[in-house]
Amino acid sequence: MTDRPDHRITKDGSSTFYSNTYKQYYHNPNGSVSESKHVFFETPGVTDTLASQNELTILEVGFGTGLNFFLLLDYYLSKKCSMPVRYYSIEAFPITQEEASKLNYASFSDFDELRTFSGHIFSHLATGMNTIKPLPDKDIELHLFIGTFDDFSPAGLKADFIFHDAFSPEVNAELWTAGAFQKLKTFSAPDAVLSTYCAASKARAAMAKAGWYLARSRGALGKREMTIASLSDQKLASFKRVNEKRLIERFLSNDFEN
Ligand SMILES: C[S@@+](CC[C@H](N)C(=O)[O-])C[C@H]1O[C@@H](n2cnc3c(N)ncnc32)[C@H](O)[C@@H]1O
Repeated sequence: MTDRPDHRITKDGSSTFYSNTYKQYYHNPNGSVSESKHVFFETPGVTDTLASQNELTILEVGFGTGLNFFLLLDYYLSKKCSMPVRYYSIEAFPITQEEASKLNYASFSDFDELRTFSGHIFSHLATGMNTIKPLPDKDIELHLFIGTFDDFSPAGLKADFIFHDAFSPEVNAELWTAGAFQKLKTFSAPDAVLSTYCAASKARAAMAKAGWYLARSRGALGKREMTIASLSDQKLASFKRVNEKRLIERFLSNDFEN
């Protein structure tokens, strides 16, 4: 049993929750919508992929309020996309429909189709995989797994982008281990790009140990850095790289143990 989260408004006016279980906000208190756009859409190149109308498969770790999926739908509509999009996400502790009704994300979109989004998604969830078509006339599918990351094992998933949006490594350690990043590799296309707001060396070392190439980029809303990772080092050509070898050495010598 988890404590219920409290609804809060961040500094850009958009909703978030404060988790009374993890003692952490679901998003950056300086702005959830602004942070999500920067970390998950603009920096890793999802917006460019949408503009080029290429088919897209995304895997998100931590569905939470559904903000990232909501923004994806908003980008899809505003860029007048028509290609297939498959969005996989994992959530062990879903918010309730009543909690979702407090989210104000619809006011950040110009599209009437998204007005009832939050209430709709959270009213129909069952344990296990839920397949939802949020916009009946668009080729977008949400595959939302209600359960833990450990239990997530979809067949044939090869994501182009991974949104790693867990709580921080200090409180949500199981999602930041080398084993977790190894598992994410098995769900990734050969040139997949993983993005996360997190810039902690310990988390980066776990990614490097699992075989991800790493780069740093400017963080959102005054945060110095975020992390971009890929299974293809060419995908990181435009970023400032992180020395994976050095991080692996530190990882193997238990440099990150408390
Ligand atoms: C930072 S919040 C996600 C924010 C979310 N992407 C959003 O836009 O609202 C992290 C989420 O991961 C979920 N979570 C934590 N540990 C998990 C686990 N082991 N398996 C699946 N979900 C987990 C939490 O319940 C929480 O909803």
